[in-house]
Amino acid sequence: MGEPRIEVVDDDVELARVGARSIADLVRADPEVTIVPATGETPLGTYAALADLHRDGDLPTEAVSVVQLDEYLGLMSEDRRSLFGWMDRTFLTPLEITGERVTRLPIDGDLDDACAAIDRTLATRGIDLAILGLGSNGHVGFNEPPVSAGAPTRVVHLTPPTVEANARYWGSAQDVPTEAVTLGMRPLLAAASVVVLVSGARKHEIVRRALEGPVGEDVPASFLRTAAGDVTVIVDRAAWEGL
Ligand code: F6R
Repeated sequence: MGEPRIEVVDDDVELARVGARSIADLVRADPEVTIVPATGETPLGTYAALADLHRDGDLPTEAVSVVQLDEYLGLMSEDRRSLFGWMDRTFLTPLEITGERVTRLPIDGDLDDACAAIDRTLATRGIDLAILGLGSNGHVGFNEPPVSAGAPTRVVHLTPPTVEANARYWGSAQDVPTEAVTLGMRPLLAAASVVVLVSGARKHEIVRRALEGPVGEDVPASFLRTAAGDVTVIVDRAAWEGL
């Protein structure tokens, strides 16, 4: 554990390049990694750059496993708007990570039981690399504030800022599911490596609060400063300086 390493990059293009390089270095060092990849907009360029490396034969993925970070509840499992669908299109398919190497979060049945089972598995197998984004309310995954550092994988209720932020994908805020499942703070904070990608002036205030404000439940991402493993925050100048 130590202070997060902060890497300030010029723009989206550099974010993608530096993000992909950091992730690719970790995968090359240990091709059997278990990765938790965030969905959302920020990592898209990074995932596309990883896909390029993979296509060029520079990124082996045959032994990579993936655990889903978060998922909406109330959708059919094949719904394109599911976060699994997003992860599949942007990360799994381009990197050819398939089948039993992918752990999906539960969306039906006894969710509490299934979430506890995931945490038990992660407690032994561990997350090697969590690739996270930052919500404008400080959430990581769907760990909405207030949340404790010990929060397990569980069903959560999405807060109005998150519903608002995701309305653009759903047509209107009324259509955004309000229930979700998320990996908890506890398994995420135990990851060996965490790479956080942050972009755009609208993230300025929250990225500064997360990295420089008090560590606590009001800003879930602030707990990354207490994470067990290495934390790297790659942030573009617009977000870092609020330009
Ligand atoms: C997505 C996720 C969220 C996003 C965050 C930032 O799986 O877990 O925590 O990472 O909301 O989203 P973007 O990148 O769209 O600003």
